[in-house]
Amino acid sequence: MSNSTRVINLSAGPCALPESVLHEACQGLLNFNGTGVGIAEISHRAPEFIAYLTEVQGLIRTQLDVPQTHSILFAQGGGALQFSVVVLNLLARHRLLYPELSDSERVLDYVLTGRFSELAFDEAKRMGGGRVNTVVDARLHSATGKFDNIPSHAAYNFSPDPALVFYCENETVNGVQFSDGVDAADPTSFPFHLLPKDTPLVADYSSSFMSRPIPHLADHAVIFASAQKNIGPAGVTVLIVRNDCLPDVDAAAALGAQPVPYTLAYKTLADHGCLYNTPPVFAIYVTGLVLRRQRTLGGPAHFAAVNRRKAAKLYAAVEEGARRGVLRPRVKEGRGRSVMNVVFDFYEREVEGRFVAGAAARGIKGIMGHPTVPGTRLSIYNAVTEEQVDAVVAYMWDFFGQLQVRSLM
Ligand SMILES: Cc1ncc(COP(=O)(O)O)c(C=O)c1O
Repeated sequence: MSNSTRVINLSAGPCALPESVLHEACQGLLNFNGTGVGIAEISHRAPEFIAYLTEVQGLIRTQLDVPQTHSILFAQGGGALQFSVVVLNLLARHRLLYPELSDSERVLDYVLTGRFSELAFDEAKRMGGGRVNTVVDARLHSATGKFDNIPSHAAYNFSPDPALVFYCENETVNGVQFSDGVDAADPTSFPFHLLPKDTPLVADYSSSFMSRPIPHLADHAVIFASAQKNIGPAGVTVLIVRNDCLPDVDAAAALGAQPVPYTLAYKTLADHGCLYNTPPVFAIYVTGLVLRRQRTLGGPAHFAAVNRRKAAKLYAAVEEGARRGVLRPRVKEGRGRSVMNVVFDFYEREVEGRFVAGAAARGIKGIMGHPTVPGTRLSIYNAVTEEQVDAVVAYMWDFFGQLQVRSLM
């Protein structure tokens, strides 16, 4: 059943969810899996919910090929809370491995490619307990001094034995993304081949999770992703944690590490099957419905192909706007353009206003840029269909045509 009042939602997140899933979720709110109890009313310890949670973990494991060396966990607090939680847990781990080191000898390595890696970097500095180091700052590799590129591999300077190396796979605000290439020769890929051996690698996948396979997944210590872009509603954060990165935070605290609240310790989540305290039941439920649907469609490989086509069409329209002197793409081709968030700036604010208003009149919404980095941002996560992208592209061509007519008058 389709609801004709729904718009083409290109919001950066929360964002579009598949309509079929929303209908299923309505049923689940009334009666979850035939229990006679709605999903927002059921105990998280009910066997039916525990079975469902296990199924959702399985849907992630099988679709992303997560090896048994890694646990799949569900946390609350969003991607942003992980900026500090990952520091607490991996500093605790480092303390257990190297109790003799001083705080200034514990290094946290950050790859800065945009707004979210910068926020994570700032949070790590606030947390203390280690020395925060910049591996590379993409702004220093830009003609504009802004986050608009993935730097070349030669620019990275990793520390020899860091407590963690952090990167953000897709910078939602800036529209910059690492490529999914596994070949070291691919200039916008993450330089996995340059990492020191056994480095605890941390990736923020909040805005690209399940949009395509994750390269070198097994080489990561922690992958985290808040759900509200590609896989569900806000409220649940998915964690993929290597099993040697579930430190005993009390043992680490006894050696002088910062105490970690139990609710934030990865080991607590793992030891209690994500049920130490009440998990975000409804968000996990809808995420499961989305992931079931994605599996039926062909999983991340299917979405990788569709998302690539969607992005190519949209960037072609953006290039046309650039050719006509109307707008400027934020990220140049070949410098790490995001497949999820297409960001550009109109030269004139008045034209931007007309573009947004004209889009709204056609039922295309959610395209304003981030408050801290204004501009226009079209987010094309998994639930945005190729047909919807075609409609957006058609609108862009019409809009450019109208501008030309106006300038001729
Ligand atoms: C890449 C990235 N990391 C982290 C966050 C923060 O996530 P949350 O709002 O769930 O805390 C976002 C949110 O947009 C994001 O896009």
